[in-house]
Amino acid sequence: MLKTTDLRKSFKGPQGKLDILRGVNFEIKKGSSVFVLGRSGSGKSTLLHLLGGLDHPTGGTIEYEGKNIASLAERELADYRNKKVGFVFQFYHLLPELTVQENVELPSRILGKRNRKRAEDLVKKVGLWERRKHLPSELSGGEQQRVAIARALINGPEIVLCDEPTGNLDEETAVSVQELIFEFNREGQTFCIVTHDEDFARKGTQVFRLHEGVLGLIW
Ligand SMILES: Nc1ncnc2c1ncn2[C@@H]1O[C@H](COP(=O)(O)OP(=O)(O)OP(=O)(O)O)[C@@H](O)[C@H]1O
Ligand SMILES: [Mg+2]
Repeated sequence: MLKTTDLRKSFKGPQGKLDILRGVNFEIKKGSSVFVLGRSGSGKSTLLHLLGGLDHPTGGTIEYEGKNIASLAERELADYRNKKVGFVFQFYHLLPELTVQENVELPSRILGKRNRKRAEDLVKKVGLWERRKHLPSELSGGEQQRVAIARALINGPEIVLCDEPTGNLDEETAVSVQELIFEFNREGQTFCIVTHDEDFARKGTQVFRLHEGVLGLIW
């Protein structure tokens, strides 16, 4: 479904060029949960940003269903970002002035729709129906992350990219968010998840480690 070939990314730093990704090759199959482990600074977030079309590679290709996303016109790329990909971040990134329900609906509104029924179903599914009119500030970290997961799913993405989705949660809460992710995964939702938590990763379909700019398959 999503395939990278010799994917490269360099940044210009004050001390010269930083080669962060130096030829990443991997493939994410539909319905799988692919995990990426790696030290802080190894380029995990950089990789997710490229996969999600939020940043451009310096070299190599990312193919989505056989098409190089670098060859997409700006509008097609925006479509890819908004419809094909969902994002979940470590610090949730919910809009503070919107309720739970409104935060979940937001990505559909950006596409000019209002997917109220689906948003309601997702809010129920993540266990926050009673809290649907609450603001993010009135929720715990784990609850906010549940909202972020529901929001990532509102437009029916092909893949959800998660950047340390449990990195800010205590162990028990982290496990409940992990379970939620695997529940959606069992229903067929594809995930690519960056984490520091090896126990979480172990439950995935495939686990890679990003080290010195390349991905190594752990299993
Ligand atoms: N826009 C940028 N400009 C310059 N350097 C950048 C930029 N974005 C990332 N980097 C550098 O690229 C390297 C990889 O960053 P990245 O955020 O991908 O790491 P990470 O593996 O996600 O780390 P962490 O586990 O701490 O989140 C870092 O050294 C970072 O400073
Ligand atoms: Mg990161």
